[in-house]
Amino acid sequence: MSKLSEPSIYVIFGGTGDLSRRKLLPALARLAKSGHLNPRSHIMAVAIEPLDDDGFRKLAREALAAAGVPPEDVVLLGGDALHYHGIGKGGPADFQALAKRLKDLEHTHDLPGNRAFYLALPPQVFVSTIDGLGEAGLNKSEGWTRVIVEKPFGHDLASAVELNRQIHRWYDEKQIYRIDHYLGKETVQNLMVLRFANTIFESVWNRDRVEAVQITVAEDLGVGTRAGYYDRSGALRDMIQNHLTQLFTLVAMEIPSAYEAEAIRYEKIKVLRSTRPVDPEAVVRGRYTAGTIDGKPVPGYLDEPGIAATSKTETFVGVPLYVDNWRWSGVPFYLRTGKRMGKRLSQIAVRLRPTPAALFDSLGQQNETADALLIRLQPDAGFSLHFDVKVPGSPFQTSRVPLGFRYSERFPAIPEAYETLLLDVLEGDQTLFVHADEVEQSWRLYAPLLETSTPLHGYPAGTWGPPEADHLAIPDTDLWQESWSNGK
Ligand code: BG6
Repeated sequence: MSKLSEPSIYVIFGGTGDLSRRKLLPALARLAKSGHLNPRSHIMAVAIEPLDDDGFRKLAREALAAAGVPPEDVVLLGGDALHYHGIGKGGPADFQALAKRLKDLEHTHDLPGNRAFYLALPPQVFVSTIDGLGEAGLNKSEGWTRVIVEKPFGHDLASAVELNRQIHRWYDEKQIYRIDHYLGKETVQNLMVLRFANTIFESVWNRDRVEAVQITVAEDLGVGTRAGYYDRSGALRDMIQNHLTQLFTLVAMEIPSAYEAEAIRYEKIKVLRSTRPVDPEAVVRGRYTAGTIDGKPVPGYLDEPGIAATSKTETFVGVPLYVDNWRWSGVPFYLRTGKRMGKRLSQIAVRLRPTPAALFDSLGQQNETADALLIRLQPDAGFSLHFDVKVPGSPFQTSRVPLGFRYSERFPAIPEAYETLLLDVLEGDQTLFVHADEVEQSWRLYAPLLETSTPLHGYPAGTWGPPEADHLAIPDTDLWQESWSNGK
């Protein structure tokens, strides 16, 4: 986040919806406050409700207050820069009216015609909206035109290929910003710095030294009020295909030739191409049953509001991935995610191979755990390297200690993922956005699983997933889940 963006209009489709209120408007407000959003910028919310500009301005004020943006920090988003356009039934005349409105706004405020269209919309209306924009000539302008697409990006390989084809009818790849908000997280961006700005890690980052990698994204929340979306999606489509697969590519990719979008995407796509499509038999799917979270009883998935008793949707997936290349051949990457788990925790664990000779065994001391690097993405972001030291005194004893770094101790303010990503769109930087080929290659990995019916194992809410998935994890799971936060 460096320079001041060019003046532009951020057009948010679904501008009155949940994503806009909770994430997009607060992120734009923070960018305005920090001086990154050009003060000549405008924001146009588009939705079907019969609202006017004043109605939307009130909605925005309430949303910013609810998101914790203090009123004195609201610059730009407090007044005349906010606009609302009702899109009616979304017919050609409605999109023409939008085009005219944008043109008039640009004329009145002498703007250069830079437009970012953010589709914060349900997937069913992606294509009709893109077509509406294209047919109204809103795929180009006197300045730049960019379109931002939220996940889910397709629901399988065929639908993702088709969606890419539809979007490419109007917009070329350089105009398309596919958001995976995990890529905007500072700690995720730091993965590349950790790997490529330090020699210590790169020298062990291979099959000779690494025994296994585990990528965990655990949530204590349940399905909440999103039953309609989630029950059609499930953990594989909601989390594994996008967020966890992105983390996986960043851990496994080769060093890019430059820190720029094309070079990084090229390496990420290469990893996906080298990865074996999953074996459905090796994957474990689970679904939470009633249990307790933080001492409070919570219902099972089937008893959540809006979930049908006949639902077959998983809330947990454990999947092993194997990269068939020289660096990683034979090293399992365990991807695990679930809702209603023990606690919120996103973490990458890299377990190194044990020492080749167990020197201290002769002293009755077993080197039980190999060295390990834990990269904690959230909460309590940072990393820790775990290794053995001698416990002072006798009898001879070793103990596992962490060498750690915590973001909070060094950098108290970390920008929200959406702030970074919304600004990157304005700056035309696609480094943290997902390329069409990446989406398709990622769906290709999970295609065999989506085509097969596999068992669904129960796990009580508040636990770490079904026991059937225990083997899809690095052993010593207490080390991976607890040790650092307990300061052990
Ligand atoms: C979203 C998923 O993409 O990511 C949600 O749809 C999930 O189901 C969320 O809760 C997790 O994001 P974060 O940033 O809270 O880890």
